Amino acid sequence: MLKYAMIGGGPGAFVGGIHRRALALNGQAKLVAGCFSRDLEKSRAIGAKLGLDEDRLYATPEEMTRLEAGDIDFAVVVTSNEAHYPNVKTCLENGINVMCDKPFTHTSEQAQELVALAKEKELILAVSYTYAGYPMIRQAREMVARGDLGEIRFINCEYPQGWLAEMLETTGHIQATWRADPKRSGGVLSLGDVGTHIEYLVPFITGLSMTKLAARLDTLVEGRELDDNGTILTEYDSGARGMYWYSQAATGTVNGLKIRIFGDKGGMEWFQEDPDNLHYMPLGEPAQKIMRGSPEMLPGAMGYSHTPPGHPEGWLMAFANIYTAFCATIEHGDAPDFPTGEDGLRGVRFIEACLESSRNGTTWVDLE
Ligand SMILES: NC(=O)c1ccc[n+]([C@@H]2O[C@H](COP(=O)([O-])OP(=O)(O)OC[C@H]3O[C@@H](n4cnc5c(N)ncnc54)[C@H](O)[C@@H]3O)[C@@H](O)[C@H]2O)c1
Repeated sequence: MLKYAMIGGGPGAFVGGIHRRALALNGQAKLVAGCFSRDLEKSRAIGAKLGLDEDRLYATPEEMTRLEAGDIDFAVVVTSNEAHYPNVKTCLENGINVMCDKPFTHTSEQAQELVALAKEKELILAVSYTYAGYPMIRQAREMVARGDLGEIRFINCEYPQGWLAEMLETTGHIQATWRADPKRSGGVLSLGDVGTHIEYLVPFITGLSMTKLAARLDTLVEGRELDDNGTILTEYDSGARGMYWYSQAATGTVNGLKIRIFGDKGGMEWFQEDPDNLHYMPLGEPAQKIMRGSPEMLPGAMGYSHTPPGHPEGWLMAFANIYTAFCATIEHGDAPDFPTGEDGLRGVRFIEACLESSRNGTTWVDLE
């Protein structure tokens, strides 16, 4: 079994516990050390619950990475955004492979530096864009590659959430407070939190590269400083076009990530709240609902499915699938089949381009 340490994921934290559960699901790695909070007492409280040795609970990530370097196979960075860059850096400098949550860093310079450092040190650097772990996203990817949609013409994606439809950040809500603070979130709120998931998934599924975008970032909730809603027009290297909408002020919605891709031979739709079904609409033929685990699934995607159709899998399993691939690369040197530091860098460049466009009145911005 591989051994890992966690940075972040302390008492009351959201996603750290999800990473721990996901890693426990696939049984490939054991948590052995942690700096779960900047407050050692809080780290100790979580560490005790998780059954960790007290001498492997650390006051700072720097101390932990220095002392644990020889004994752990990787570290998981699940802090608020402002602490990604310094913590990934200390891991890499100490020779430790890293899984970092998204958005990767505050600036593309920081992301570039980390990608270069990982390369120089021959370390594995991953960014947990969770949705790439869904079997039906893999199915969509394989079907596009097989040509089932033909030439892609248009991509329409949305990710609405409603939990920030009011000023939660002034109530002491842990997750809302740092997300709404420009210095901690990285200058964007919902674009970094949910918009980047769309940015990652589109090229993952279609193989297309975005060449330009025009974005309008909105603040719908009065009193808020950063974006809580945004609309982005996109163009890709093939000439295909797209439109993304993300929001955390879409009252009443929860995790409504929806992807629609339309080509000259067919279209497809996938909805995160119904993740085991992929809808395929071939031109001139009846629409099909492809169920996870069914014989219609293609071999690569089937490898990501673990229960028979009708026994639902979900978000936790998608997380676990990302880790299965990550651990396989660490353990056996398998080719990376998970989102990498380069993907994280592209995500940060996307954020920067959206900000530039929006500030200039929704002008078109070219991407490299
Ligand atoms: N992949 C996904 O689908 C997904 C989902 C939710 C959140 N996220 C990302 O995960 C990250 C964490 O989000 P969250 O909602 O869990 O935040 P959170 O506020 O709930 O948890 C952050 C934790 O990090 C700890 N922390 C902060 N700085 C630290 C430091 N320097 N050293 C040690 N611990 C430190 C905090 O004490 C806290 O326990 C964010 O980057 C967020 O964007 C990703």
